[in-house]
Amino acid sequence: MHPRVDAILREARDQLAASRTSTEIEHLKTQVLGRQGTLTQLLRSLGTLPAAERREVGAAANEAKRALEAMVEERLRETAERERRARRERERPDLTLPGRRPALGALHPLTRVHDEIVAIFLGLGFSLVDGPEIETDYYNFEALNIPRDHPARDMQDTFYLSEDVLLRTHTSPGQVHVMEGMRPPVRIIVPGRVYRRDVADASHSPVFHQVEGLAVDRDISMGDLKGTLELFAREMYGPRSRIRFRPSFFPFTEPSAEVDVLCFLCDGKGCRACGNGWLEILGCGMVHPRVLANVGYDPEDFTGWAFGMGIERVAMLKYGVEDIRLFYDNDLRFLSQFV
Ligand code: DAH
Repeated sequence: MHPRVDAILREARDQLAASRTSTEIEHLKTQVLGRQGTLTQLLRSLGTLPAAERREVGAAANEAKRALEAMVEERLRETAERERRARRERERPDLTLPGRRPALGALHPLTRVHDEIVAIFLGLGFSLVDGPEIETDYYNFEALNIPRDHPARDMQDTFYLSEDVLLRTHTSPGQVHVMEGMRPPVRIIVPGRVYRRDVADASHSPVFHQVEGLAVDRDISMGDLKGTLELFAREMYGPRSRIRFRPSFFPFTEPSAEVDVLCFLCDGKGCRACGNGWLEILGCGMVHPRVLANVGYDPEDFTGWAFGMGIERVAMLKYGVEDIRLFYDNDLRFLSQFV
């Protein structure tokens, strides 16, 4: 072999042996076999050699080129494979790392209580009805036998949108809509938002939720009302729960009552929540004959009862929440306790 070719070949071999990465090998390849590479230059300068030398050097250089190309490719293959394996090893996921739990959402406590109340009454054969939150004076007051001078109509209590249009102050107008739209028998509940011009404090909110209940048929009695509410209380507050009726007054019922449930926190012994062992949970009564007449029902033919309860109140008692505003603040520290 020609000494110049030999020198280039040996030098290239040494460098190849010393190369560790495919970048280094590629570099060497360019240096020797590239367009400006040492061996390429030599081949290109063959023409300047004396004819006798030209053949010998040319043959040697071409052979060296083929040999080098083969070696370089072989080393590149090996190295690339090793590098791939190393990278895979480096990037392999660590299956022993503990996973990250996705944050779980949960139903709002008011939604939970709402759903629970609704489920109980659906189970008793009641239907779920929706009523408008924007009402007229007629539906919110007049039809419910609430007279012109009744304190509930006071500007203090009601959000008026115009002289005649207002945000409903209770779900009771739902009764009127339902009865106008159907003949007895009626068994419905109307849950929903209600509005009052109250300043928010621990027990007041300008927006809160009620569930209205109504049953109208022939021969419906106060006994049916008591039986239904007793069943409700047992489902809602547990099988040992008891209720009591206290006489009260509402313009749209006669007679009217307020219902207390035996305090489920202290079992009626008396505690901070109930004071005397009983918790007031709702207002109710026999639908006033004038309300029946207002919707075209003959009060001589049909009787009915109704009730209205506050969802916030039920939820506050159930979960021991002492400030109603917590329900609306969307503070995760509060809400995440109901997951
Ligand atoms: N509407 C009453 C209120 O908001 C609650 C109520 C009491 C509803 C007696 C009734 C009822 O249906 O019979 O305070």
